[in-house]
Amino acid sequence: MKTYLITGGAGFIGSHLVKKLLSEHFKIIVVDNFDDFYDYKIKISNLCEATNTSFEIKYDEKEKNLKEFVNFINNADKNIILLNKDIRNFDDLKETFKNYKFDGIVHLAAKAGVRPSFERPLDYEETNIKGTLNLLELCKKFEINNFVCASSSSVYGDTPKLPFSESDNIKKTLSPYALTKKTCEEMAYLYYKNYSIKVVMLRFFTVYGPGQRSDLAIHKFARKLKYNEKISIYGDGKTGRDYTYIDDIIAGITASIKFINKKNECYEIFNLGNNKVITLMEMVKIMEKISGYKADLEFCDFQKGDMPMTYANISKAKKLLGYSPKTDFEDGIEKFFEWFEKKEESK
Ligand SMILES: NC(=O)c1ccc[n+]([C@@H]2O[C@H](COP(=O)([O-])OP(=O)(O)OC[C@H]3O[C@@H](n4cnc5c(N)ncnc54)[C@H](O)[C@@H]3O)[C@@H](O)[C@H]2O)c1
Repeated sequence: MKTYLITGGAGFIGSHLVKKLLSEHFKIIVVDNFDDFYDYKIKISNLCEATNTSFEIKYDEKEKNLKEFVNFINNADKNIILLNKDIRNFDDLKETFKNYKFDGIVHLAAKAGVRPSFERPLDYEETNIKGTLNLLELCKKFEINNFVCASSSSVYGDTPKLPFSESDNIKKTLSPYALTKKTCEEMAYLYYKNYSIKVVMLRFFTVYGPGQRSDLAIHKFARKLKYNEKISIYGDGKTGRDYTYIDDIIAGITASIKFINKKNECYEIFNLGNNKVITLMEMVKIMEKISGYKADLEFCDFQKGDMPMTYANISKAKKLLGYSPKTDFEDGIEKFFEWFEKKEESK
């Protein structure tokens, strides 16, 4: 039975990964500080969903609830240990490496989101760069040589070349967030080259599905459609995204864990996308069709940092990981709305 440390395991992607790995009889140690990028109660509910448990939030204070929740999860399932810890805190993280034995790390904890990274670039630098460096440094010290890490399609930046391939030049970064992810890729390379840490960097392309972060367009639009609020369309609606359903991303991460375990040495970057572009207006139309709601649109200026298009060449992931995304966009949106409506009803 393998034991994995998953940072950011209470988040959107992390909690889906926890669920999948528990179902495959892994032991999991989750490190997550329930940061305030969005409501910590959503992260509690993510981990309840992942562990098939339910937890009652009793207090007004976040710290009191979290303390109780950590105890609750740690007693609920012997295969998961939840640690409310911050990856920015080297000494605290060191205790985790000292106290627990694990075979590898899937590092997902980060400040995510392109637009907010312009407001607080130093917060992004601290969590995404320093936090990742702390983990790599501890991997070196404690001889953990197995590191799967979340990167992002945003590293491709300002490029006319489509679709994006892992070997493309990524010199024209468009946002502080993208810069932090690009730096993580380079730092991990340095630790691979000098300390033989095996690394897989995964460039996720806009991930959606049940549990999607509420700051991301599909979730935001769903709420606005349901409550008949204006939806801001930045640009002319022709911008496009390669949307990837959460189950396909999880399949890509688990395939990466298996891939890295078979290698004696490895530094690989993979695009995990769907290899299909959906324009913003197509996305709105599909969401209207599936939900039955009517969109009230307002067109606004293009936002700084936004890429006009993301589009993944996934042939490398197909060839080396056996990655093959299965969920088409309409089916994925249908599953998203099933989850979304249930969640809104239970409020
Ligand atoms: N969702 C996407 O479309 C997408 C696309 C590209 C890349 N990514 C990357 O994938 C990863 C997961 O994204 P997500 O959508 O699940 O985001 P998320 O915000 O839901 O999850 C991130 C988790 O990290 C935790 N965290 C943040 N700062 C921390 C810290 N200092 N210490 C410990 N934990 C901390 C948060 O509490 C959260 O639970 C991130 O690295 C993100 O940059 C996501």
